Amino acid sequence: MDFQTEYKKRTDEIEKVITAYLPKEEGYQKTVMEAMNYSFLAGGKRLRPMLMWETYRLFGGEAKVIEPFMAAMEMIHTYSLVHDDLPAMDNDEYRRGKETTWKVYGEAMGILAGDALLTYAFETAAKAFDLEPQNPGLGKAMQILAGKAGIFGMVGGQVVDVESENDTSMTKEKLDFIYRLKTSALMESSMRIGAVLAGADQEEQNAIGEIAGKVGLAFQIQDDILDVTSTMEVLGKPIGSDEKNHKITYVTYEGLKKAKEDVARLSEDAIAQLEGLSVKNEFLTELLRYLIFREK
Ligand code: IPE
Ligand code: IPE
Ligand code: MG
Ligand code: MG
Ligand code: MG
Repeated sequence: MDFQTEYKKRTDEIEKVITAYLPKEEGYQKTVMEAMNYSFLAGGKRLRPMLMWETYRLFGGEAKVIEPFMAAMEMIHTYSLVHDDLPAMDNDEYRRGKETTWKVYGEAMGILAGDALLTYAFETAAKAFDLEPQNPGLGKAMQILAGKAGIFGMVGGQVVDVESENDTSMTKEKLDFIYRLKTSALMESSMRIGAVLAGADQEEQNAIGEIAGKVGLAFQIQDDILDVTSTMEVLGKPIGSDEKNHKITYVTYEGLKKAKEDVARLSEDAIAQLEGLSVKNEFLTELLRYLIFREK
């Protein structure tokens, strides 16, 4: 398998699937639809829908019921970025190679576009009930989608992240807590939903949850590394954002070298656990390997 070719092919397919669910820009409130679509269509790696689809395939899924959930996941992720960039949060002006939503549409519309993406995500995911009403995993999938986005997931992590700026008493345990919630939670949600909708059993769902937890942690550590080693041109977002905001990251906490080792170790652990399952998806394994050395 040529990974790069497959990666490109799958990213293009995902793009088609998820953009079909975006709202039309019309009506008196059309500014908010424009702002939603602006950030969503600015680009992005589409990693979470990719993880969802590949996990669904790993367990034999091949229907369209996954598609509304893929779109919903990317909407929730995009909303998390739109709000993360706001002046009251990380105060960043570039995202996905373009000016951030609040820079273009103003702060009020930035807040509302995030709110709208979050709500529209659930409106979108609920369309899966029309596609495959008999799928016994649908209720559980909705529960995961909500739970991992909220106070016990991404939002909870962002809360502690914001409160921990300049925290001189930061511990490794608390740092892990932040990363597990602010970043791993949406990866876990993606992979668990893929597993649930394909009919994976409870043990398999738990294994997938653990794998995704490690992938997410490695992904956020790599994000911290790139924030100090990359460039705005490559990332499409400003570098040095963490230092500007006095964030304690894996890089400041344990150094660049150890951080890089952690990314590799966590990813290798996740890959080994994935390979230990009775089902196989070669592309998914290769994707996790590729993420260790990702440059953006
Ligand atoms: C950025 O996520 C936010 C983090 C959790 C580090 P991505 O790096 O997946 O951003 P896009 O979707 O490709 O823009
Ligand atoms: C944010 O982490 C993770 C989210 C939940 C949005 P960062 O603040 O490091 O993400 P970037 O670097 O701005 O993408
Ligand atoms: Mg942030
Ligand atoms: Mg940020
Ligand atoms: Mg970052």
